[in-house]
Amino acid sequence: MLAAPNKVGSLLDRLDRARAQTDKLFEIVRPDSLYDRPIPERHRIVFYIGHLEAFDWNLLRSESSLRPFDADLDRLFAFGIDPVDGGLPSDHPSDWPVLEQVRRYGARVRDALQSVSSFSEILLNTAIEHRLMHAETLAYMFHRLPLDKKIRQPQAGVPEREPPLSESIEIPDGCVTLGLCRDAADFGWDNEYDAHTVRVPAFAIDRYKVTNGQYLEFLQAEGYRDRSLWTAADWEWKSASGISHPVFWKRAGDAWHLRTMFDEISLPPSWPVYVSQAEASAYARRAGKRLPTEPEWQRAAYGSNDGRFPWGDQRPDPEHGYFDFERWDPAPVDAFPQGRSAFGLDGLLANGWEWTATPFGPFEGFQAVPFYEGYSANFFDGKHFVMKGGSPRTDRSMLRRSFRNWFQPHYPYVYAGFRCASNGSK
Ligand code: AVJ
Ligand code: FE
Repeated sequence: MLAAPNKVGSLLDRLDRARAQTDKLFEIVRPDSLYDRPIPERHRIVFYIGHLEAFDWNLLRSESSLRPFDADLDRLFAFGIDPVDGGLPSDHPSDWPVLEQVRRYGARVRDALQSVSSFSEILLNTAIEHRLMHAETLAYMFHRLPLDKKIRQPQAGVPEREPPLSESIEIPDGCVTLGLCRDAADFGWDNEYDAHTVRVPAFAIDRYKVTNGQYLEFLQAEGYRDRSLWTAADWEWKSASGISHPVFWKRAGDAWHLRTMFDEISLPPSWPVYVSQAEASAYARRAGKRLPTEPEWQRAAYGSNDGRFPWGDQRPDPEHGYFDFERWDPAPVDAFPQGRSAFGLDGLLANGWEWTATPFGPFEGFQAVPFYEGYSANFFDGKHFVMKGGSPRTDRSMLRRSFRNWFQPHYPYVYAGFRCASNGSK
């Protein structure tokens, strides 16, 4: 079914803006580093230059009479990788087409798609959000590049401040809705359906995300060496990969530095710590707490509020957080009191995703979409965990309450932190 032209027109504008966003992003990498592989588990950067265009082409072409002009590249760039069993890619830069060829392919895709007068809304939304998710995951990747391989971009400074005292909030027994209604006008990915209401027993959860300052105490108390805080699998991963601190941190004599996107600064104690789920769980265990489940997180963020956002219906603006790619790095965990949820939680959106204890899985009524069968279903393997919220590099469109993100518990490169939960005092 073809959508009303004005709606499609605005989606085409959004696709254009998303393309401008990713084009600009690749420009921060010095050209001689585009065949680097900053994250060992992922493809080389050049793959993603091709992937964003091939994905759109393979998807959007299906509704048109356009014919492939380079089926090899369509296939080469069709899908990324997510190695769960420790195997790492071993290809060489010379295995990939030269940059000019990749760029020519992309330009030709955009040109050909330009000639199509209409696409269905669902495919356009898929292309837009897919690209914007890569705008975030590419930022994780570029974060790992040495600073001299990047071209610095401007960013407003944030005032550093004393970290707030941690506080635990009691959430009473009650219900919350997960997922997205099939007849809602909003776009959703397959894993967001069906909407359903769940009962969440009383529990307690922190008002703020765990800060670098708090995490430093865990590290200094030898949390990384205390076997009792880690599950067997997490301990084995940590030992095998030689992890002894968050990957965003760097030791500097007896002090710690933080590697931000374009700088190395002294560790800001009030910013949320970014860590893997395994490291987050160990911290929580030492505090006598645990990570919240997905329903608990949802209830703390949205319970007793039917609004679109934790603070209500008002669209996200600068008083609720940094939105729309304004910043590369996070802000203090208490920087945006206007963004507080009805239950009193701060910083739920856009200051770092939050790990949950819930394995990524289908909601009742889940159906894969025919044009992208594996988007979620390939990851319903018990080896990925749900993350909620959003980071400073998450597009506003994906701050909807039903959006679910996921990664492996041993993937430490994500802009993700956590807050602790417990069974509460009642
Ligand atoms: C939803 C962010 C986990 O990057 O692996 C991009 C999004 N899927 N291309 C990922 C995705 C295919 C996905 N995440
Ligand atoms: Fe992709």
